[in-house]
Amino acid sequence: MQYNEMHTENIADPAALKQAILEQKAARDTLIVAHTYQSPEVLEIADITGDSFALSKAARDVPHSRVLMCGVRFMAETVKILSPQKQVILSHSQAGCPMAEQLDPEAVRRYRQEHPNHAVCAYVNTTAQLKALADVCVTSSSAVRIVRQIPQTDILFIPDRNLGAYVQQMVPEKRLHFMTGFCPVHNAVTPAQIEAAKAAHPGAKVAIHPECPPQTVALADMAGSTKEIIDYALGIDEDVIFVTEKGVCDELSLKYPHRGFYQLEPSLLVCHDMKKTTLQQVYAALTGQGGEEIFLDEELMQQARGSIEAMLRYGG
Ligand code: 13P
Ligand code: SF4
Repeated sequence: MQYNEMHTENIADPAALKQAILEQKAARDTLIVAHTYQSPEVLEIADITGDSFALSKAARDVPHSRVLMCGVRFMAETVKILSPQKQVILSHSQAGCPMAEQLDPEAVRRYRQEHPNHAVCAYVNTTAQLKALADVCVTSSSAVRIVRQIPQTDILFIPDRNLGAYVQQMVPEKRLHFMTGFCPVHNAVTPAQIEAAKAAHPGAKVAIHPECPPQTVALADMAGSTKEIIDYALGIDEDVIFVTEKGVCDELSLKYPHRGFYQLEPSLLVCHDMKKTTLQQVYAALTGQGGEEIFLDEELMQQARGSIEAMLRYGG
């Protein structure tokens, strides 16, 4: 209440709000990191933007005592696990990743007991409890490279079956095993939508995130993480159809208005959790009037750190 009364004028004026955020982050020794799926105005005030791998590495390596994560909960948890001495704040307390919470840790614990010779590999889009049960974590940009290096042949890959199917195809020498998990946003893409987009934009290349179903990945010209998709689009002259969360195409279209960049379907690929953070929430989180500070049990962090550090070791 007091916050609204005190800052109504600033909040109503986007330029003044941005200025207030810049002043507050400097005054409070805070690094703002934002995932590429955030809205353009949040990306604009962030110190570091990128995919989940880039953000977790960067937040670990900078000297700031506070990190404000504009993203979803597992991303803030990953920063906290890697930098337990830092104060880590999630920009919106209700911003979760549905995929990260789909699996019951008990099922994974049982699997480990029943398959002592299998490795457990967790996509970084998982809760700290699931990371604590894994041997190694991966991100979408590092999954193929890391799975190739795991010494065991049999690997339980959690939670995303679609990313897992993509990795299996790229690393046929391993046997991947799955439980049920998927990203509700990317999993909604169908082959018919891709065919329709290709027909609407003849000659355009299709870039897809491997969280999409395998039958759609098979129709694309390239598959890769958020960063790999961006690098691909900027590295070619052709038009590009983006089959990933709309933030990627929005951001690139703003920066490169002369390029032919197209969404698969403008309202289809929206991660509503990623879009929960507004500039006003960034300000509130920065000034201790919003967001949520991440607290994790010490022992849990220690167990989860092993798999994240293995990812950084293997993944470079
Ligand atoms: P990236 O690893 O590409 O950042 O993906 C994170 C994510 O949540 C994709 O849906
Ligand atoms: Fe999670 Fe999917 Fe949103 Fe990525 S796009 S944060 S995997 S729900």
